[in-house]
Amino acid sequence: MPKVTNGRVIYVKHPTGYYEPGVHTKYVEEQLDTDTVPLNGGILVKILAISSDPYMRHRMRDENIPLFAPPLKIGEPLDNFSVGKVIRSEDPAYAPGDYVSGYFTFENYVVHPGNITHVFKFCTKIPKLPGLPMSAFVGILGMPGKTAYQGWLFAKEKAKTSKTLYISVAAGAVGTFLIEYVKTIHPHLKIIASAGTPAKIDLLKSIGADVAFNYKETDIAKVLAEHGPIDIYWDNASGSTLDAALCNMSTFGLIVSCGAISSYNEDQGAVKHFEKVFERSLSIHGFIVGIGDEAKRALVEFEKEIPPLVLAGKIKLREHRFYGLKSAEQALRSVHTGENFGKAVVIVDEEGGAA
Ligand SMILES: NC(=O)c1ccc[n+]([C@@H]2O[C@H](COP(=O)([O-])OP(=O)(O)OC[C@H]3O[C@@H](n4cnc5c(N)ncnc54)[C@H](OP(=O)(O)O)[C@@H]3O)[C@@H](O)[C@H]2O)c1
Repeated sequence: MPKVTNGRVIYVKHPTGYYEPGVHTKYVEEQLDTDTVPLNGGILVKILAISSDPYMRHRMRDENIPLFAPPLKIGEPLDNFSVGKVIRSEDPAYAPGDYVSGYFTFENYVVHPGNITHVFKFCTKIPKLPGLPMSAFVGILGMPGKTAYQGWLFAKEKAKTSKTLYISVAAGAVGTFLIEYVKTIHPHLKIIASAGTPAKIDLLKSIGADVAFNYKETDIAKVLAEHGPIDIYWDNASGSTLDAALCNMSTFGLIVSCGAISSYNEDQGAVKHFEKVFERSLSIHGFIVGIGDEAKRALVEFEKEIPPLVLAGKIKLREHRFYGLKSAEQALRSVHTGENFGKAVVIVDEEGGAA
């Protein structure tokens, strides 16, 4: 009987400001018999890597508040995009040894389909690609990569006749993908990028940003005025950053609204110049990855176009790794404090991080 220790990260309390490990979640352990745990026609997955993403903060809320992402349940393990390896199967579609990408609970071992009932539930087989760890499937080949790819479709046509692109929150999972992808397909664009530490600014310059600045130490509007006007703004921040961009957009400019991280934990500045939208005939296109028919078509194209670019080294894997399931709590917090340098990922089992 192979009894194993199964770690679990449980959601225990709604945060009001920043999420705190050990306060709003807690790590617990139980013993599990991997030979006898009931599968009910499903599969037993050993979790290899789990993604930490900013939107998880939206899920930490009262379940009566409607939002684009389902709420976490008090007393239940968290769940998010993950990769794993099938170790037992009662489902003919999977065999032991198969690698899978799915929406799994924060545990070492997960039965799929288990207790997740919300819309994000999925599980698909994934290949082992040469030179890449399985964790790439929660980063450049997973949700953040697909976000950058899908969102850029709204800008692709306009980019052909544009000169300047500004990207906020540029040094993370979505931003670095976007810079490398845009540099590959629209090399004529001048990319202005912002992030919050000197090391991140160096990174942005090294991967192709023509202008990179620290938004914590610089007057954003001044930089954009000097290097603009901005034809396309990729907004990951909202708040005062969006306000500075609005004031420096060119006529008929486009704003792709991808995220609003400045508002996830605290209020960091209001948008005071929304009138620029009509004054300058601006368009704003918001989106959620994977939602809508356009997104579904985009994701089919992603599977054809992106893996070859990744394998050719044009879009690179940059991970900030947290080791062991217990570190998932720190990983969740890191994307809000800016501690992560690259895609925040929890390597739950060493096989998840091996190239
Ligand atoms: N629309 C969608 O479907 C979708 C999907 C995925 C992600 N997103 C959004 O895309 C954005 C980036 O996500 P990601 O996964 O690539 O995260 P990430 O950049 O890897 O990590 C988040 C980063 O946000 C920065 N940050 C924290 N507080 C900030 C603030 N008040 N103002 C500006 N920056 C702040 C931190 O870096 P610094 O050191 O630079 O501050 C932190 O490292 C987020 O807004 C996220 O919600 C949207």
